[in-house]
Amino acid sequence: MELERLQLELDGPVARVWLNRPENRNAFDGLMVTELRKTLFDMGSLDQVRVVVLGGRGPSFCAGADLQWMKAAAGFTREENLREAQALADLFFTVYNSPKPIVARVQGAALGGGSGLVAASDIPIAALGTQFGFTEVRLGIVPAVISPYVIGKIGESAARELFLTGERFEAVRAAEIGLVRAAVPLEDLDAAVEGRVQELLQSGPRAVAEAKALIREVAWRRVEDVQRYTVERISDLRASPEGQEGMRAFLEKRKPSWVR
Ligand code: COA
Repeated sequence: MELERLQLELDGPVARVWLNRPENRNAFDGLMVTELRKTLFDMGSLDQVRVVVLGGRGPSFCAGADLQWMKAAAGFTREENLREAQALADLFFTVYNSPKPIVARVQGAALGGGSGLVAASDIPIAALGTQFGFTEVRLGIVPAVISPYVIGKIGESAARELFLTGERFEAVRAAEIGLVRAAVPLEDLDAAVEGRVQELLQSGPRAVAEAKALIREVAWRRVEDVQRYTVERISDLRASPEGQEGMRAFLEKRKPSWVR
């Protein structure tokens, strides 16, 4: 697929996906939603790719949904309106559910759905000074489809404050509430992202996908309700070729096959 709103760089085991609409601060319209979903889906099924880095070209990571596009919904039929909103929800789920770990490289601003992309990713790292915010209420709308991912990351207490005020906040606060994993000077952002990528490349590719699924299944549930599932996962994985190779490599004091 020709990409109009994104740039894709394949760099060995790392896929770098860039939102590329800098003149609009990478605000996403229907085309960007379609391209991003398809690209992340394709990266999920490409064996060569083991880590995805999601970034934004220009001064800002992402200014959220394109407000021209959102505003146009008033002229849609109810079915069209629901279909577009579903496509947006599917985008965040594709990020969240990707079998490949997603490191978000965040600078400038991540507002509304931009903060949603951050929340749905696995390891977001932000430059100091980046503006975050769930500004939707200030526009008379709500951070609806991103809410499961955001509340999962920052909890109900911070969500009550930030969803209701719509206030903007900075990267240090985003790190304190768990929206991002680290806030670093802009000049150190690429090195910090690369550090996360290198750590992820030490992990078994199947184990990483299984660990993501494990978190999704276990979070917020009672131990008794997930125990059978957790028992099955460790049983399957320790007998799997990757699990056998990883443990054998440790015992033989060598690197496992997936570490170069
Ligand atoms: N949708 C559509 N267009 C947007 C946009 C959005 N979410 N965010 C920014 N743009 C456009 C601006 O309208 C402007 O267009 P113009 O050049 O035709 O006037 C262009 O992008 C640059 O924006 P500008 O505000 O001049 O850039 P900046 O670097 O000073 O500030 C932001 C960047 C992201 C901090 C600022 O644009 C902003 O606050 N945007 C609103 C974000 C928001 O509330 N999103 C929530 C959506 S639910």
